[in-house]
Amino acid sequence: MSITLPTSGPAVVAHGKGDLRIEDIPLATPAEDESIVEIAYGGICGSDLHYWLHGAAGESVLKEPLVLGHEIVGVIVQQAADGTGPAAGTPVAVHPATPAPGDVRYPEDRPNLSPGCTYLGSAARYPHTDGAFSRYANLPSRMLRPLPENLDLRTAALVEPASVAWHAVARAGNVQGKTALVIGSGPIGALTVAVLKRAGAARIVAVDMHDKPLEIAQAVGADVVLKGDEAEAIAAVDADVVIESSGSHYGLASAIKGATRGGKVVMVGLLPSGPQPVFISLAITRELELLGSFRFNDEIDEVIAALADGSLFVDPVVTHEFDLAHGLEAFEVAKNSAESGKVLLNFQP
Ligand SMILES: NC(=O)c1ccc[n+]([C@@H]2O[C@H](COP(=O)([O-])OP(=O)(O)OC[C@H]3O[C@@H](n4cnc5c(N)ncnc54)[C@H](O)[C@@H]3O)[C@@H](O)[C@H]2O)c1
Ligand SMILES: [Zn+2]
Repeated sequence: MSITLPTSGPAVVAHGKGDLRIEDIPLATPAEDESIVEIAYGGICGSDLHYWLHGAAGESVLKEPLVLGHEIVGVIVQQAADGTGPAAGTPVAVHPATPAPGDVRYPEDRPNLSPGCTYLGSAARYPHTDGAFSRYANLPSRMLRPLPENLDLRTAALVEPASVAWHAVARAGNVQGKTALVIGSGPIGALTVAVLKRAGAARIVAVDMHDKPLEIAQAVGADVVLKGDEAEAIAAVDADVVIESSGSHYGLASAIKGATRGGKVVMVGLLPSGPQPVFISLAITRELELLGSFRFNDEIDEVIAALADGSLFVDPVVTHEFDLAHGLEAFEVAKNSAESGKVLLNFQP
């Protein structure tokens, strides 16, 4: 059987600050270890929004046009020529990271900390690493995770951010029977609530500035929701484990105040670079453990299994879906965290 292979397709490309385009891009001949993947869905992430709105995400500044997108799922059109990777027709999720070889020291079992690690849809390095908000993408076998039969592509579109949440909760250790507080209930915070629920946290309190994210947090398992300005109520949570997922120093202050003596605060929200005012004194006198959390490693396989067996429930996190023709509208909606949770692009023609 011979099929005609694609040579180009539409993609979402950030050209600079405020300049986002949906345009046809050529599809290169895949390398030996690359499969051609027909992308089905892509979730819009904060970093995608930053490249569009600011021409940069933190320290990563656009120096050339960048195909956005790292939260992607699709179906193999052509298996990698070297025989690695899933066969044509297999639905897959994607691990977007490529750890860099090098001689800088980092813990061997934590490749997410590898210096020089590249990530799909990132301008951290030059030349940039194109993402896969495109109808077709060439992706190396090691990134591809076949989906179990009972996990549909649309649900699997949350695999990447859910893996971020899973890793953050894992950083806190065993949460079974514990009181957990989640500051910031955007997609990452809501997915964190879902992971905490699955992991057996006894009481989960979610905080946000807006009603919509709190509705979503409640729908995925928060027992109590609080507004970000309810300082006394947040402090009274007295949580064993706090996950900071707002990415604001105000949120980090709430996280520290809401933690119990000897408790753990996992910081997954990315604060802006540079010095930050932080309410840190309580962390000393309460002997809090402050833990960073960055991306994830093989947790992606646990997330896929948990989504497939139904033990991880995340459906309410997706609030909108747009086809590619309305891609720019999708970014406008995703920008407004008071109104939207995770916004999906549907790349299927
Ligand atoms: N560490 C990592 O590996 C990693 C990976 C992905 C995303 N992130 C970061 O995680 C954070 C959350 O991501 P997201 O996609 O959910 O973003 P988001 O912007 O959609 O969600 C943040 C939420 O926090 C709320 N918020 C803001 N200030 C608050 C405060 N003081 N108290 C309570 N809530 C507050 C906002 O209303 C919003 O709903 C971002 O900072 C993002 O950059 C980190
Ligand atoms: Zn993301």
